Amino acid sequence: MFGKKKNTIPEIDKEQLELLKTAQERMKQKKRLYAHFVIFLIGSVFLILANTALGIGKDVTFFNIDWFVYAIAIWLFLLIYHVFNVFITSKLLSSKWEEKQLNLMVSKQKQRIAELKTQVEKDFPLPEKKSLKATSKNSEITIIVAAGENNAIGKDNQLIWHLSDDLKRFKNLTNGHHIIMGRKTFESFPKPLPNRTHIVITRQENYQAPSGVIVVNNLEDALDASRTDKQPFIIGGGEIYKQALNLADKLEITRVHANFEADTFFPEIDTSIWKEVTKTRHQKDDKHVYDFSFITYIKN
Ligand SMILES: NC(=O)c1ccc[n+]([C@@H]2O[C@H](COP(=O)([O-])OP(=O)(O)OC[C@H]3O[C@@H](n4cnc5c(N)ncnc54)[C@H](OP(=O)(O)O)[C@@H]3O)[C@@H](O)[C@H]2O)c1
Repeated sequence: MFGKKKNTIPEIDKEQLELLKTAQERMKQKKRLYAHFVIFLIGSVFLILANTALGIGKDVTFFNIDWFVYAIAIWLFLLIYHVFNVFITSKLLSSKWEEKQLNLMVSKQKQRIAELKTQVEKDFPLPEKKSLKATSKNSEITIIVAAGENNAIGKDNQLIWHLSDDLKRFKNLTNGHHIIMGRKTFESFPKPLPNRTHIVITRQENYQAPSGVIVVNNLEDALDASRTDKQPFIIGGGEIYKQALNLADKLEITRVHANFEADTFFPEIDTSIWKEVTKTRHQKDDKHVYDFSFITYIKN
């Protein structure tokens, strides 16, 4: 109560202030009209008494009618004009003014919303719908796989062979890139491979993966997540290869020259779609139990 008066700055904006002023003005107009009415009543009584009781201007008549009747009639006319002004003219002007203000406020709000929208779009750009197309256009989606002559690629969620030169090639080609894989292939690794961005595809909603591993729910999202990579690799397994073969631009196949018993297979390569561009054969040796070839295919 006795505290220091705060130096407050009114927080209402110009438009609100104008509305307030108009409301105050309107109250004043009505008060003035009421005062006019009261003065008119008193004045009229005074004029009547002045003429009849005090005899002021007793002989002044126009067309046989006393002057005070004319005076009161003129005054009444002015009063009616005043009433008209307050309740008709000002009211009409006021509602017009209110509408104008309302439109002004609405247009200001619209402008503000547009500004905010632009700002939000700038700060949080939405991934473009075309992104998948952009990925396939600007980057070379590459499938990398080692498959037997019968297209066998795995058994009991494991590889069937150990070929160290094939692993070296896999490491060299995928180094520094995004590697996209099905959940089962990911779980066949003892731990994530170094220097590669892992993208794991699963239908599970809350699949837990080590930090740094990207988890997605479909192949499209996996490709979208790797859109900054000029050459994302699809590294298996069987289910993912099947879904990705149509989307891929390049195949890096290690063809192991033997038939294997397996539970997972690579799809048949349609040579009317895929063209072999390079092939390097490796003979078996003390480190490699099978003959194998590195073959690169691109889409015809
Ligand atoms: N030879 C090679 O070069 C090579 C390379 C890689 C793997 N492999 C072998 O391949 C075998 C594993 O292949 P796999 O076919 O069994 O499994 P996978 O393709 O690695 O993974 C299958 C899993 O991926 C998820 N998935 C598949 N399609 C999906 C989709 N459209 N949307 C969302 N999630 C999807 C599902 O995970 P959820 O069940 O969690 O939903 C599914 O169970 C292993 O034996 C492995 O060693 C071989």
